[in-house]
Amino acid sequence: MGTTQQAPRDLIDAALAARDKAYAPYSKFHVGAALRTGNGQIIAGCNVENAAYPEGVCAEAGAISAMVLSGETKFDEIVVVGLGDVACTPCGGCRQKIREFTGPDATIFIINDQGETLLTLTREQLIPHSFGPENLK
Ligand code: THU
Repeated sequence: MGTTQQAPRDLIDAALAARDKAYAPYSKFHVGAALRTGNGQIIAGCNVENAAYPEGVCAEAGAISAMVLSGETKFDEIVVVGLGDVACTPCGGCRQKIREFTGPDATIFIINDQGETLLTLTREQLIPHSFGPENLK
């Protein structure tokens, strides 16, 4: 599953810069995410943990919140970077958050901390048979 399509350089740079800002003193697992909105803006996020562990927020969730604050509700591409060469695939909750604001053909790139693409997925591959806004109509 997935293709070998490479992540775009501008999103790689933004995701790596965000990862450098991560607040992850408990897991020590620093994550960055950067997305490109429908109108071309790049918006990034990092994971922000909490001493009350379940209150931590993932990098993807931070980027999505910042996107909504900026006035955008659609994105086509997102790059996620974790630690090392094991692909930091979005957690279940983040898959659903990504689902809310993307079409089925949006691209999810997982890169390593050297900026190399490890995995490229469509949103439909990331979260197949998903529940979304259309289900509520
Ligand atoms: N994390 C993310 O920020 N994004 C992911 O895609 C996977 C996991 C964070 C949550 C927690 O702060 C740390 O990584 C370890 O699970």
